Amino acid sequence: MQQAARSVIPATLIPGDGIGPEIIDATVTVLDAAGAPFEWDVQQAGMASLRAHGDPLPQPTLESIRRTRLALKGPLATPSGGGYRSSNVRLREEFHLYANVRPARTLIPGGRYENIDLVLVRENTEGLYVGYEHYIPIGDDPHAVAIGSGVNTRAGCIRIAEFAFDYAVRNKRRKVTIVHKANIMKALTGIFLETARQIGERYRDRLEIDERIVDACAMQLVLDPWQFDVIVTTNLFGDILSDEIAGLVGGLGMAPGANIGTDAAIFEAVHGSAPDIAGKDVANPLALILAAAMMLDHVGRGDLAQRVRQGIDETLHVDKVRTGDLGGKASTRKFAQALARRVS
Ligand code: NAI
Repeated sequence: MQQAARSVIPATLIPGDGIGPEIIDATVTVLDAAGAPFEWDVQQAGMASLRAHGDPLPQPTLESIRRTRLALKGPLATPSGGGYRSSNVRLREEFHLYANVRPARTLIPGGRYENIDLVLVRENTEGLYVGYEHYIPIGDDPHAVAIGSGVNTRAGCIRIAEFAFDYAVRNKRRKVTIVHKANIMKALTGIFLETARQIGERYRDRLEIDERIVDACAMQLVLDPWQFDVIVTTNLFGDILSDEIAGLVGGLGMAPGANIGTDAAIFEAVHGSAPDIAGKDVANPLALILAAAMMLDHVGRGDLAQRVRQGIDETLHVDKVRTGDLGGKASTRKFAQALARRVS
């Protein structure tokens, strides 16, 4: 009893919008069946919260994450108009979620590529996405010249490089590729390359480390993705390459993502709230369940994460239970129940 009490891990659970509550229910069903140690503090965010609190990301939700430092989150719709900033961006800023981790693994064979197993680690707070942009008017053209500046700091580069190399070691990966454009953006991505190389020296005994220029990397991902294992890169390149990598395994539909920061870690599906299928019990909960498996890895329960991943493979390929988007007939609930039987 005492043992069980000690192993409980408080975590914030945000059902979110659209299909969010359905896929969160499915995920919690699977986690409960696997014996996951989370003690949920359910909090609102998104449209429901906007209606209830006048804010899509209200204080009680932020306070809960501040306390638990760990969250599993359904997709949040960004209300159009009304001047609301994306809740996802606000979370990233509030909790300094500097590392975005996007694994891509072949789940359904028969696509363009077989046996893909890659992880992209993207710096999430610096680079060309800091938003230092402006126009210079000339004559009657207010937008005659557009200027944008990127910011990469030594501290930020050290932080993301250490995160990527530690992640690779912890997850028993074999290789890390540093992706940059230091041949052209000599300072902005030069500092990233230089720093990642220096940090990498400390890991040479445990990992193979190589480098690619981002354009070459994009091409090689299409020609021979198996040469890569973990990729670490700056914000803009990471944004683009993570979608490319998701494309290697059939698109964003089953892609999980983790946002890891100094103050919290937030796990989610990469897809949105899918309002077109909300409330119909047809959504595929796999991306969120895979995000929950990453959360288990994060809290040191790799054993349970592995059980969930293996259960997914068995449910899809042995039991042949799949949701409609994967050519099956199972509802969200039926899929979750089938997977829960496999992991319990
Ligand atoms: P979306 O990803 O919600 O939907 C795109 C298409 O994929 C739709 O046809 C949808 O039915 C389908 N789809 C998505 N997830 C699915 C699932 N689990 N199972 C089966 N089919 C699925 O993208 P969309 O329509 O552009 O965005 C809708 C809302 O979601 C917007 O308000 C957007 O701001 C928000 N969003 C939130 C994100 C987050 O919270 N991380 C990420 C992306 C979008």
